[in-house]
Amino acid sequence: MIKIAPSLLSADFSQLGVQIKELEDSGADMLHIDVMDGMFVPNISFGIPIIKSIRKLTKLPFDVHLMIEEPSRYIKDFADAGADIITIHYESDNHLDRTINYIKSFGIKSSVAVNPATSLSNLKYLINDLDMVLIMSVNPGFGGQSFIHYIYDKIKELRSLADKYNPSLLIEVDGGVDASNINKVAQYGADIIVSGSAVFKGNQIKLNLKNLREGI
Ligand code: DX5
Ligand code: ZN
Repeated sequence: MIKIAPSLLSADFSQLGVQIKELEDSGADMLHIDVMDGMFVPNISFGIPIIKSIRKLTKLPFDVHLMIEEPSRYIKDFADAGADIITIHYESDNHLDRTINYIKSFGIKSSVAVNPATSLSNLKYLINDLDMVLIMSVNPGFGGQSFIHYIYDKIKELRSLADKYNPSLLIEVDGGVDASNINKVAQYGADIIVSGSAVFKGNQIKLNLKNLREGI
């Protein structure tokens, strides 16, 4: 069954606790937590203290997407704050093999994200050691952007790489997914679908999640 991971980037931060409860009650499978440092991406979001404080509010797994330079510096902090999955970017770390094994040493899932224009062939040697690959379907940095059309083929390509090298690999697709394209994203091979603006729009979390789920 395809999982939906709402991105907190589109939440109303003055109502964060209430909205997390609503996500949990509405059947969200995990929380996607976008951390941005204003260097790797041209935006700053939130960091470790926020994650630590919301960890007490919910049992939902925390899917932490690090859009930061040299993420290895902060892996321990995010693991201690309660991350269940940590995703680092291919483009932000010169020693991916070391960092993905470092993430695993905390007993949590290790994942690499690739920007839209980054080739999957770069992951060939790593794929066997990864729990998940996150395919960016927008350029990272902001919620509410449009899905980039060539990403469908990329999902399919990753599915066949996974079948060959690591059949238990999870494929996560992040950016621009809404009720109009979620079915196609799922058909091409996604296991986990991130959605931000389509989940929080109009402050109708329950209805929006239902529409997304029905769209699959
Ligand atoms: C973009 C983030 C995404 C984004 C998803 O840098 O990684 O998680 O917030 O939001 P939507 O669904 O609005 O594109
Ligand atoms: Zn994300």
